[in-house]
Amino acid sequence: MKAQLEPIKGLRELSEERTKLVHTFGALAELGHEVSHKQSFQDTVRTSMHLLLGSLAIMRGGVARYSPFAHEFNMVAARGLGEEFPLSLSLCPEDERQFLSCGLYPIEAEHARVLPFFQIYDRSLERSKVALAVPLVLRDELLGAVFLGEKASGEPYTSYDKEIICAMARHIGVAIAQRNMLAELERRANENRKLYEDLRMAYTDTVKAFAAAIDRKDKYTEGHSVRVGKYSELIAAELGWSEDEIEGAAVSGYLHDIGKITVERKLINAPYRINAKESVELSKHPGAGYDILRPIHHPYEGVPLAAKYHHERIDGRGYPDGLYDREIPFIAKIVNLADSFDAMTTDRPYKRRRPAGDVFEDLQRNSGKQFAPEVVQALFRGILKELYGESGGRPFRKLLGREYMESEGLAITLKNALNGSAGVAPITLTSVD
Ligand SMILES: [Fe+2]
Ligand SMILES: [Fe+2]
Repeated sequence: MKAQLEPIKGLRELSEERTKLVHTFGALAELGHEVSHKQSFQDTVRTSMHLLLGSLAIMRGGVARYSPFAHEFNMVAARGLGEEFPLSLSLCPEDERQFLSCGLYPIEAEHARVLPFFQIYDRSLERSKVALAVPLVLRDELLGAVFLGEKASGEPYTSYDKEIICAMARHIGVAIAQRNMLAELERRANENRKLYEDLRMAYTDTVKAFAAAIDRKDKYTEGHSVRVGKYSELIAAELGWSEDEIEGAAVSGYLHDIGKITVERKLINAPYRINAKESVELSKHPGAGYDILRPIHHPYEGVPLAAKYHHERIDGRGYPDGLYDREIPFIAKIVNLADSFDAMTTDRPYKRRRPAGDVFEDLQRNSGKQFAPEVVQALFRGILKELYGESGGRPFRKLLGREYMESEGLAITLKNALNGSAGVAPITLTSVD
C-alpha cells in the first residue's frame, strides 16, 4: 500500500510546485513591468516589495538603498517592521565585503551573528522578526538590501523559496541601479549647466569690460558702446528674436567699436569735425574690430560681422566695402541704426544732441537709404510701446532721459511713421497718453 501512495504524494507536491512557479512567474512579470514603467522610484520599490512579500506569503519586510558615501543602508520601503526599525543602518568594511560576496543570496539573520552588522542590529532585527537579509548586488556593486520576516505559515524558508527571493531581489536591484544612474546623470547635467553658466558669465563680463574700455578711450562719447548694446538688444527683442539671439545682438552692440582701440586717442577725442585724412584713419576701425573679434569663439556668430559692417548703408554708400542691402548681415543693420541713433541723441564735442522730433523724422527719411526699414520700424515700435506703457520696464526712458521721451508729439510722430511705412501693417495701438 505504502509503495502505491508514494507516487500520489509526489504528484501533489509537483502540482503545488507548479502552482507556486506560475504564481512566481506572474509576480516576476509584474515586477519587471514595475521597474520599467513606474515613474516614481519610491512607488516602484514599494510595489516591488509588496509583490515579493505577497508571492511568498511573507508577513513583513523592507527595502533599503545603499549609500556608498555614507556606508549605510537607508530604508526606502517597509511593511510591518515596526516604528522602531532603524531608518538607516551603517556597515563596516567587513560587512560590505560579506554582503558583496553573498551576491543576491539571502543571509539568515540567525546564523550570521559573526558579522558586525548582525551583532550591532541584533535587537532591532529580532524585535522586527527579520529572518533574512538579502544583499542587492549587481555587477559587483552593493546597491541595497531586502529584509524579510518569517513566512505566514511559520515554516522555514526552503532553498526553492530562496531562489524565488533571489530572482525578485534582482529586479529590485535593477530599479535601484536605474535610480542611481539617473541621479548620477542629473548630477553631471547640473555640473555641466553650472560650468556653462560660469563660462557664459565670464564671457559677458569680459565683453562688458571691453565695452567700458572702448568708451574710456573716447571721453566725449562716454557710455556709447554700452548704449549701442542696449539699443541693439531692444531692437532684436522687438523683432521677435530668441533669447540667445537677443543676447548676441547686445554683445554685438557692446563690441561694435572695439577696433577703435587701434585708432589714436587724439583722433577719437578731436573736439572738431575731423578732416578727410583723419576720417580715412578712423574708418579703419570696423576692419580692425573684425580682425580682433574673428579669432575668438563667440556664442553668437554675428559679433565680428557686426563690428565689420556697422558703417555700411543699405544704399551701398557706406564703408568699408560699400555693400548693398541684402549683402549686409542683419545684425550689422541693427547695430548700424543703434549706433547712429545714439550719436544723434547724445551730446558730441562739436554739437548738442538733436531734438526728438528731428531725430525720428531723420531716421524715417533715411529708412531704405542708410537704414533697413524693418529695423527702423522695430525701434519706433519699441519706443511707442513704452510710451503707451505696453512694455515691461522703461529701458528707453533710462537711456534717453525723461525729457526726451516726454517731448511733445513724439507718440504721434512715431505712430504716423509706422502707419505710413509701406508694406507694414498699421500699428494697433490707438490711445495716446
Ligand atoms: Fe563705429
Ligand atoms: Fe559707434
